[in-house]
Amino acid sequence: MFCFFLLNQKTIFVNNYKICYMKTFFLFFLLFCTLSAFSEDGYDLWLRYAPVENVNLQKTYRNQVKSIAFNANTPTLEAAKSELKTGLSKMLGFQPEFAEITNNTGNLIIGLPDNFEVIKENTGTEELNDISREGFILRQIENNNLIITSNTEIGLLYGVFRFLQIVQQELPLSGLNVVDSPKTQVRILNHWDNLNRTVERGYAGFSLWDWFRLPDVIDPRYIDYARANASIGINGTALTNVNANAQILTPVYLEKVKALADVFRPYGIKVYLTARFSAPIELDNLPVADPLDPLVQEWWKKKAAEIYSYIPDFGGFLVKADSEGQPGPHNYNRNHAEGANMLADAVAPYGGIVMWRAFVYDQHVPEDRTKQAYNEFMPVDGEFRENVILQVKNGPLDFQPREPFHPLFGGMEKTNIMPEFQITQEYLGFSTHLVYLAPLYEECLQSDTWTKGEGSTVAKAIDGSLFGQKLTGMAGVSNIGTDRNWTGHPFGQANWYAFGRLAWNPYLGSRKIADEWIKMTFTKNHAFVEPVTEMMLTSRETAVNYMTPLGLHHIMAAGHHHGPGPWVDGRRPDWTAVYYHRATSEEIGFDRTPGGSNAVGQYHQPVADKFGNIETCPEEYLLWFHRVPWDYRLKSGNTLWDEMAFRYNQGVNEALAMQESWNLLADYVDGQRFKYVQSLLEIQTKEAAWWRDACLLYFQTFSNMPIPDGVEKPVKTLEYFMGINELYMPGHH
Ligand code: GCU
Repeated sequence: MFCFFLLNQKTIFVNNYKICYMKTFFLFFLLFCTLSAFSEDGYDLWLRYAPVENVNLQKTYRNQVKSIAFNANTPTLEAAKSELKTGLSKMLGFQPEFAEITNNTGNLIIGLPDNFEVIKENTGTEELNDISREGFILRQIENNNLIITSNTEIGLLYGVFRFLQIVQQELPLSGLNVVDSPKTQVRILNHWDNLNRTVERGYAGFSLWDWFRLPDVIDPRYIDYARANASIGINGTALTNVNANAQILTPVYLEKVKALADVFRPYGIKVYLTARFSAPIELDNLPVADPLDPLVQEWWKKKAAEIYSYIPDFGGFLVKADSEGQPGPHNYNRNHAEGANMLADAVAPYGGIVMWRAFVYDQHVPEDRTKQAYNEFMPVDGEFRENVILQVKNGPLDFQPREPFHPLFGGMEKTNIMPEFQITQEYLGFSTHLVYLAPLYEECLQSDTWTKGEGSTVAKAIDGSLFGQKLTGMAGVSNIGTDRNWTGHPFGQANWYAFGRLAWNPYLGSRKIADEWIKMTFTKNHAFVEPVTEMMLTSRETAVNYMTPLGLHHIMAAGHHHGPGPWVDGRRPDWTAVYYHRATSEEIGFDRTPGGSNAVGQYHQPVADKFGNIETCPEEYLLWFHRVPWDYRLKSGNTLWDEMAFRYNQGVNEALAMQESWNLLADYVDGQRFKYVQSLLEIQTKEAAWWRDACLLYFQTFSNMPIPDGVEKPVKTLEYFMGINELYMPGHH
């Protein structure tokens, strides 16, 4: 649109109606700016770089960046410089001057310690050692000059992004002294993207990777994807679905992967691929894929060499094996360590790693599904190569709205372990529900495993501080797709952001992350920030209330997983709902105490006892660990049945409250995003009521108790809800 007016301006000069048309142009331009201020499609994420509103601060910032000494002579540094230019000009309304010469005249001085004497003088060797490879120092020094330094170029890029975020949030610069470095090494998005561009459990359109047009067409969106990730410290991307297709390992596709890797490299992002364990059979007709077979080992070594010939900094493999029908070492009576190590040996010469998933269970194993991964992996603790890292879902089942932490955290002490969180909302309302997931991630990270006494949190078990692992990381199953706003729900962006921030620093709090994100994504106005922070912080508990209160789990609809389905039965038991809630007319819940499946026995003491005793088990996990009579009295004094009904109802009320609270905020947010979120919240409230009514009507057939006063009575029948058959849900193929 802007170009259009510029073109018009040219014509205007030719026609010699300069002044009059210039005015028109100016008016149109103003109109355009105003319109664009009131209409945003969310594409810019948290990198909007809105003009600084506080006039005094704007002056301070301008003074601080009057001149920038930054010798940007490599792709990474050029990326940092270009970000600075874009960010500062948008936020401060002027183009800062870059001084290429390496003297110390800049007000903002950016470089490695060797680049500038003034940086050396103002940083200590020890602190530089402490920030390792990717950390940075952002410091105001004497004369109010500001330095950004690091041991590496990527660290400088991260420092520049942090500086821009400080300005975006309108934080003071005086006395600024940020010394920060990531606490985990591999901070990676897992894209469950198929080669035909569908996305398993993806609710934001199709896959970003346009395999058909790659490697020739480089969608500018790839660069924006890299910018967004780098801005929060994400340094890896597994491009393909864990339910893997071996074709990705063939030359035709490797060319395409190389093209993406070339785009991402300046931003410090490595690419990883999912390796289908049976690839040697499928691609080259080997008779077996046995990890101990020398021919198979040789095949993977050659494959690794081939991949590295395209992508010298290829990150490595992500593997789902022996789970949900995927091939794996079990096919040859080998264990997971033998499978993982074979791949690890193939990529080791090039510095590659293997992320081996612990999401392993088998319907033919007559054991509580939540116990199977632990049983499978504990015996091989210590047997994995040092470039293998076990990727463990936050809970022992499958990304449910609430699960206790996975007992492998704090269980395996001699194996590198990284948590896997789901950012895409498979079980949390897809991309129509506002559910801020940082509290879920934080709850897991802050859980105390007690492995080495009190305070042995999951965060410490995975960042190397408890067991001294050499390789650390965190994975997030991406919620990104081709939707213009990337994540479908504008608030889904917050979950991508939160994942990145927590992967960088697993000790950050959900509130702080929400605050940063809101200010950069919407506005710094308190009248907006405060209510929206509250909405976000409570939204996860709200979803738990209207979906799976009191430790209920896996009661969603079958297959696509959208909406309630507590009645789901008649398929492999571990994929039904009845396997998990086990409701009868007397009681409900899964007995995982020593008298039941004894899943509690996989936790250290005193956690095992706490979970195992109905009196001490936190009520949010009650039906996860216990079978509880319908008339059992909870802490509130209510019977289990009444409490369940109240919680479901509360969830709906809270969803409604979010809607009401958002409705008051129209003045603070552009019309487009305001209306879109408004419509989505309406869907959420409707679906919350759907969950409540369907679940209460269904469970009532067991409890035979009346829906208590104060809980809205369902208008529709159970048959109605059971008859809902949603055929064409996104993310399910
Ligand atoms: C869930 C999900 C699957 C996915 C699996 C996994 O079960 O529904 O689509 O493949 O997790 O994590 O491997």
